[in-house]
Amino acid sequence: MNAPHPPPHGLDEAQALRLDAEDPGHRDLFHVPPADGGRYPDAAYLAGNSLGLQPRATRDELLADLDAWRRLGVEGHLEAERPWLPYHELLTGPAARLVGALPSETVVMNSLTVNLHLLMVSFYRPSGRRTRIVIEDSAFPSDSYAVRSQARFHGLDPDETVVRLRPRPGEDTLRTEDVTGYLAAEGDRVALVLLGGVNYLTGELMDIPAVTAAGRAAGAVVGWDLAHAVGNVPLALHDWDVDFAAWCSYKYLNSGPGALAGVFVHERHLGDPSLPRFEGWWSTEAATRFEMTPVSRPPATVEAWQISNPPIFAMGPVRTSLELFDRIGMPALRERSLRLTGYLERLLDEVTADRPLTVVTPRDPQRRGCQLSVRIGAGSAAELTKRLRHEHGVIADAREPDIVRFAPVPLYSTYHDCWRAADALAATVAVAR
Ligand SMILES: Cc1ncc(COP(=O)(O)O)c(C=O)c1O
Repeated sequence: MNAPHPPPHGLDEAQALRLDAEDPGHRDLFHVPPADGGRYPDAAYLAGNSLGLQPRATRDELLADLDAWRRLGVEGHLEAERPWLPYHELLTGPAARLVGALPSETVVMNSLTVNLHLLMVSFYRPSGRRTRIVIEDSAFPSDSYAVRSQARFHGLDPDETVVRLRPRPGEDTLRTEDVTGYLAAEGDRVALVLLGGVNYLTGELMDIPAVTAAGRAAGAVVGWDLAHAVGNVPLALHDWDVDFAAWCSYKYLNSGPGALAGVFVHERHLGDPSLPRFEGWWSTEAATRFEMTPVSRPPATVEAWQISNPPIFAMGPVRTSLELFDRIGMPALRERSLRLTGYLERLLDEVTADRPLTVVTPRDPQRRGCQLSVRIGAGSAAELTKRLRHEHGVIADAREPDIVRFAPVPLYSTYHDCWRAADALAATVAVAR
């Protein structure tokens, strides 16, 4: 344990503790890792945008599913307390409610990039002049690799096919009007718009309905990578007329490393026999699956995109987490998120004012989720996060070369976590002379 240091700023710890008493969140439902440095027993965990914490309920739920296998063997498919054959359906309702979709539009399966590829098989169909894929220049690299490989798969040059939208010079985030402006001007060349709902690097929340409307008006298909949006901001994918979306469950959905991901396909595409799709035995309708016929009969639901029988032990943690979201509700979480992130922003304003640090996340709470990204003016982001962790017990997330991301997650983060992050940053980064 380090000796307490006098705060090098005017941050008020007692106020943080008072706010926690007034607005406690749901930390008791999670395991918080112990601190690896500093003067508090638990870590100030602000990396839930990278990997969410483990819900306390997950272990027992997982053990119950394992136990069914031990007791029942193959009979667990029908006789387990939660039978494995229809197990994935337990996740459908809660996932659909979380993203604002119909149950027929939502399924949990595979991992995120795999799902993006499966969806692009159906929804990236370049033809004639309309070949381009629009992403953001700061797209997560996996998305960039995925769309470039899709272009190559269609015999197209990825450098010409993939359009990377950049913020204006001197700005850090994309303006909605620049995205919609591009689509109005060049939309007849665009086959697919595939953007991050919340940008992984800057934390910017895109105007999903406005961009979706502009893309569709231009005749393009509009899909969203919601890895950083799901469980972070309210979503209404059906009403926003989004064509398709995919997300992972290991960040804000707290379902564990590499957890199963989610998919949305809008109702208007369901049952469309003209859509190409890769299939397996879980793509055929459940009622006749075991007739073992050579030709599939896909249902008119998103389950037609399923391929393999679902991994039950991977589904358990997603089910447990989705049940939490269902119980607490996204509207309440968003309210707390606005309070918590607004508080962290005020603290960071104090710390960054006289240090070579800049918050690059939009200041408008409606244009962001819970993450605030700080650009550091000198040194390495990875080195800084190492010091935050080992000297102060604050776990943040570095994106080299110069971004440190702090995400106070409304389910389990506290005002005191935010205070500790700001305090640690102030103690670690010297005031500019
Ligand atoms: C925005 C975004 N897209 C895609 C991925 C890749 O996800 P996966 O490895 O689960 O396919 C990530 C991973 O963090 C991400 O943040």
